[in-house]
Amino acid sequence: MALRRFLVGGNWKMNGTKESLGELILNLNTSDLQEETEVVCAAPFIYLDFARSCLDPRISVAAQNCYKESKGAFTGEISPAMIKDCGADWVVLGHSERRHVFGESEELVGQKVAHALEHDLGVIACIGEKLEEREAGTTDDVVFTQTQIIAENVNDWGKVVLAYEPVWAIGTGMTATPEQAQEVHEKLRLWLRANVSDDVADSVRIIYGGSVTGANCRELASQADVDGFLVGGASLKPEFVDIINARA
Ligand code: PGA
Repeated sequence: MALRRFLVGGNWKMNGTKESLGELILNLNTSDLQEETEVVCAAPFIYLDFARSCLDPRISVAAQNCYKESKGAFTGEISPAMIKDCGADWVVLGHSERRHVFGESEELVGQKVAHALEHDLGVIACIGEKLEEREAGTTDDVVFTQTQIIAENVNDWGKVVLAYEPVWAIGTGMTATPEQAQEVHEKLRLWLRANVSDDVADSVRIIYGGSVTGANCRELASQADVDGFLVGGASLKPEFVDIINARA
């Protein structure tokens, strides 16, 4: 099996000030981070430049969203070209808060994925079912449909990380059990094998997000198909370092 580099993303969401993020960054820059782990911090747009200039170069910077066009009359939006211009290499797309708080459609998420890849940004593409969908037994249908629409818009899987984030686990403290996470990750990999290619199934990183903490990260990280994490709340705390080092 192809070796998949463990990737831990911190999703700062709409949090922080230059002062508090500066402290967080200083802690990351001066901590012992497992060399083998790829680390990406997703900063609010307005702090992309700040995060890039303060973070150690071994830590990448992501935007938390972008638009599907390069430029123009789209008040309040930013383009992948602008993200790159600030020195960031990644963008998080399709996060459940974008889908469910801001009403982004599957189609729009797909268009954004295609456009970000055209501009050579790495994409952390998020998928995940709501609680009622899990309870109705439709988790597979939901995540396969979301993955299908993303896949239709990917021309280079080498730049894509899939983030499985069950909506019921995000910000709730209700982490998926390692078995629940592994079950969906394994099915996603089988889906990639059947619908994309063996090579993509073996090489694409599938990371887990939803109430990951310093306390639960090791057991989750030990699952065969869990290739890292997307971390919200705990990425704003010193324990983010423990999560980065979950496989150490
Ligand atoms: P959480 O958020 O770790 O606070 O649950 C995860 C995410 O939204 O990416």
